[in-house]
Amino acid sequence: MQVPFLDLNAPIKELQLETSNAIQEVLDSGWFILGEKVKAFESAFANYCEAKYCIGVANGLDALFLILKAYDIGLGDEVIVPSNTYIATWLAVSYAGAAPVPVEPNILTYNIDPGLIEAAITPRTKAIMVVHLYGQPADMDPILALAKKYNLKVIEDAAQAHGARYKGKRVGSLGDAAGFSFYPGKNLGALGDGGAITTNDAAMAEKISALRNYGSKMKYYNLYKGYNSRLDELQAAILLVRLQKLDEWNQRRKDIGRDYLAAFSQLQTKVVLPHVPDFADPVWHLFVIRHVERDCLERQLKLKGVGTVIHYPIPPHRQPAYEEMRHITLPISEQIHREVLSLPIGPHLAPEQKNQVIEVCLDAF
Ligand SMILES: Cc1ncc(COP(=O)(O)O)c(C=O)c1O
Repeated sequence: MQVPFLDLNAPIKELQLETSNAIQEVLDSGWFILGEKVKAFESAFANYCEAKYCIGVANGLDALFLILKAYDIGLGDEVIVPSNTYIATWLAVSYAGAAPVPVEPNILTYNIDPGLIEAAITPRTKAIMVVHLYGQPADMDPILALAKKYNLKVIEDAAQAHGARYKGKRVGSLGDAAGFSFYPGKNLGALGDGGAITTNDAAMAEKISALRNYGSKMKYYNLYKGYNSRLDELQAAILLVRLQKLDEWNQRRKDIGRDYLAAFSQLQTKVVLPHVPDFADPVWHLFVIRHVERDCLERQLKLKGVGTVIHYPIPPHRQPAYEEMRHITLPISEQIHREVLSLPIGPHLAPEQKNQVIEVCLDAF
């Protein structure tokens, strides 16, 4: 049996009727941009994230970029980012005109190491952008303490962590503002692009809801040189249906994560398993293992029908896009990028598929 890394059709089938009805409601309304569905989704997602406000935008990259713009962070400013992340985190900073300043991760959690942040702060630093990578929250308390000490904003990149909790609190309400992505493969995914910002800051929410719509709150009256970055009415309708399933789908991911850990934890091999600190309640967007012979392991699993993906093969500072960073060495991030491999995990991975992954991995590790 083939076990695909990800099945995007299964969630569509599970919610076929509800989704069709929601789409039909939008078609019948004749209103396709910033209508009742976007409003309803924003309210429901703010509530879900235990945040006061949510603003729907076009994608996760824009969500992070718009937060920076709303805080007037741009040219001449620096933003601390994890060296180990998907490049979008860095691109949001570059896109705003500021400079991303990478800080290495903790080798066990793969998230930014709070102990290394202070040394990277300069008079130009305006914000720390943390990423809850692979669905696991970063260690926020020491980061929030540093931000307070140096008067910095804390921006969460929660693109991979819808529903995760840090010390009992939902991501999306831990810092000053958070950016989410609803790219189809995310824990909460749309059927196209989508994104959102959550915040408890009323002024920020107000400004971002104008910035995403040409800088306008009132039609043909423009407060800011804004952008066109709106969450689509159709995607909002689909996301509203899927949001009702998010906790159940996350629980299925957690069950698989628990079963993988139980099956592999007694092995005396070179495989490094995910580490969950006491403060974290992760939502297992990805189940990422590490192995010194990663490429060989990847081939072996593929031969036995198990699909895997590398998140990510090349760190941002080694990408041609960041040519100016090529002289920098970030050994922990580089090691992680050389060794990581993501196993199939998702709410629609059938028990027999999960068992096959376990069997094949027990043999290959
Ligand atoms: C950590 C992280 N940040 C930001 C993004 C950007 O999201 P989007 O693809 O919706 O622009 C992604 C998604 O791919 C991501 O994984």
